[in-house]
Amino acid sequence: MCSAERIDGKLISQKIHEETLEESKKLKEKHNLQPGLVVVLIGEDPASQVYVNMKEKKSKELGFYSEKIVLNKEATMDEVLTLIHKLNNDPRVHGILVQSPPPPQIDEEKVIESIDPKKDVDCFHAENVGKMLIGKTDGFYPCTPYGVMKLLEYSDINPSGKHAVIIGRSNIVGKPMMSLLVQKAKGANATVTVCHSRTPNIPELARQADIVVAAIGKPEFVTADMVKEGAVVIDVGINRVEDATRKRGYRLVGDVAFDEVSKKASKITPVPGGVGPMTIAMLMQNAVKACKMQNGITD
Ligand code: GUN
Repeated sequence: MCSAERIDGKLISQKIHEETLEESKKLKEKHNLQPGLVVVLIGEDPASQVYVNMKEKKSKELGFYSEKIVLNKEATMDEVLTLIHKLNNDPRVHGILVQSPPPPQIDEEKVIESIDPKKDVDCFHAENVGKMLIGKTDGFYPCTPYGVMKLLEYSDINPSGKHAVIIGRSNIVGKPMMSLLVQKAKGANATVTVCHSRTPNIPELARQADIVVAAIGKPEFVTADMVKEGAVVIDVGINRVEDATRKRGYRLVGDVAFDEVSKKASKITPVPGGVGPMTIAMLMQNAVKACKMQNGITD
């Protein structure tokens, strides 16, 4: 029995923000440029409001041109597409993010397709997803899986030759996570298994993993019996579960049963304070990258 080392996503994200701030200052001083990031929220989803506010706040702290645009929950496709068109053509804006999930009348795929791939800091556009898959580096990487790769790097965990088992196959996390981990590149080169709702033997596969990435959105799905002694466990889940003892009426738990799994794992991310802060850190990095690419800056 061991007690896992906690991977401190808050601390690692702060280090990345410091680097981003330096880059942002350099762009201002050397090139008189300010990275511009616009976050769009459609509707009133409470969790999305929290995330969007955090993204806006951080981009201001880093000296970006920053805008938060909130459309009401009845917004039409036409309104959304008109807004995206305007932002695509606004030279102050280098990155556009539409918070997911949008309300049901909005065709998310169409909205993503309408974003200029050069401004697609989420890496949701098919052009950027394709670039990532074939290992091209002139697009973006999606913020959450990219954040996981950085957590591994900063924690001296080299996935090369390791068996990574990803639980979840979403377009936002599971599939791009697979793509980044399997890539023939420094900090990657893992053997990857992706499990999902039709996988009959998830516990058996998870037990073979050197690295488990849980991204299914089910509170405390990964239990100690599903984890090999000494495995690295990355918890991407953020679930609200009712808790009458808390003032706000709920608490946040991940997709991993933290207390029991941390007795078996060698390293583990907590929720909150693990992957979550990294998502924002990588978004800010992507915004700087977008600004540089759109202005032909290579230093
Ligand atoms: N919803 C949950 N995660 C994300 C993300 O990384 N980007 C966007 N746009 N929406 C999200």
